[in-house]
Amino acid sequence: MNVIVTGGAGFIGSNLVHYLLRERPDWNVLNLDALTYAGNLENLADAEQNPRYRFVHADIADREAVDAAFDKFHPDAVMHLAAESHVDRSILDAGAFIHTNVLGTQVLLDAVRAMGGAIRFLHVSTDEVYGSLGPEGYFTEETPLAPNSPYSASKAASDMLVRASFQTHKMDVVTTRCSNNYGPFQFPEKLIPLMVANALEDKPLPVYGDGMNIRDWLYVEDHCAALLTALEKGKTGEVYNIGGHNEWPNIEIVKLILKHLDKSDTLIQFVTDRPGHDRRYAIDASKIEHELGWTPSHTFEQALPLTIQWYLDHREWSDRVRSGEYQKYYEQQYGGR
Ligand code: NAD
Ligand code: TYD
Repeated sequence: MNVIVTGGAGFIGSNLVHYLLRERPDWNVLNLDALTYAGNLENLADAEQNPRYRFVHADIADREAVDAAFDKFHPDAVMHLAAESHVDRSILDAGAFIHTNVLGTQVLLDAVRAMGGAIRFLHVSTDEVYGSLGPEGYFTEETPLAPNSPYSASKAASDMLVRASFQTHKMDVVTTRCSNNYGPFQFPEKLIPLMVANALEDKPLPVYGDGMNIRDWLYVEDHCAALLTALEKGKTGEVYNIGGHNEWPNIEIVKLILKHLDKSDTLIQFVTDRPGHDRRYAIDASKIEHELGWTPSHTFEQALPLTIQWYLDHREWSDRVRSGEYQKYYEQQYGGR
């Protein structure tokens, strides 16, 4: 089995590449990644000696490069994670989000179709396409899409292109929509690694608005397991929600981090709210649980301390990311090839 993982140098992608190499010992994995600011090949240093792992430096919106990678590797499946993923960046400038999340997804779909349609395409989307919930209720796969940020709007657009590829071209596509992930290798612009990094340096922890926005947190390895389940067992054309039944207001997460690090709550700084800030996300994951047999294996009580400990044990990794040093790794290891 030959699998292309797009965005394999990012947070979830690098966890997924490790997971696939470990859990499927006869699979070959090609990581296709443009190495934007969010791509860090140091995350995959362990995999580089593995003969079943390959890396191609390419933009998913570059048709020629994508076609060349497909021609050379002959994938049986594509797991599509490459994206611009940070809401705050999308508010500042949506351009890259349209380029990668919308155009890039269509280029990949075209490449899959050009190979004759025998390739399974797993589209990794987000619960953010459903918009914002009030205090009650959950997102199901039937919840209408109502994205509120340029990020989630671009992901919703990509979901619709994937849907159209099934309706129009009968392509073998499956879409997943997951809640917020946490775990090793997350870029420190996202809530949990940012708060850990700031707390360790005794810098203020910026909490948006009143801190009562709620997210439904899932450990990244549980997401990887769900993606493999959806790839192997998912029904063509279907959407599967993925989540951990684990809702927390942001302020509570920040306080848990401070407590774990033995730091004072006085580091918390309430700052101006994010425009269009979704109030609550909560996933009903019963479809993937009942139809495909996936359930999360990690509790938040176990995995949040594990995650904080990972950042403590990998301060050099965080320092290299925060200083920009990590961006030299590709040139140094691969000579820019
Ligand atoms: P990330 O920002 O950490 O990584 C994105 C990766 O994509 C990087 O390696 C980057 O270099 C690569 N990339 C960006 N533009 C590219 C392009 N044009 N061509 C090729 N590669 C490109 O993202 P993440 O948090 O790992 O998220 C991965 C996927 O999962 C995304 O599609 C995201 O929408 C989805 N998702 C994320 C979460 C979450 O909590 N992080 C939750 C649900 C869904
Ligand atoms: P984030 O990690 O950016 O994920 P998303 O916006 O995709 O859910 O943010 C998670 C929550 O944390 C979200 O409600 C915004 C909030 N947040 C802060 O309060 N302060 C911050 O510095 C960041 C990055 C996020």
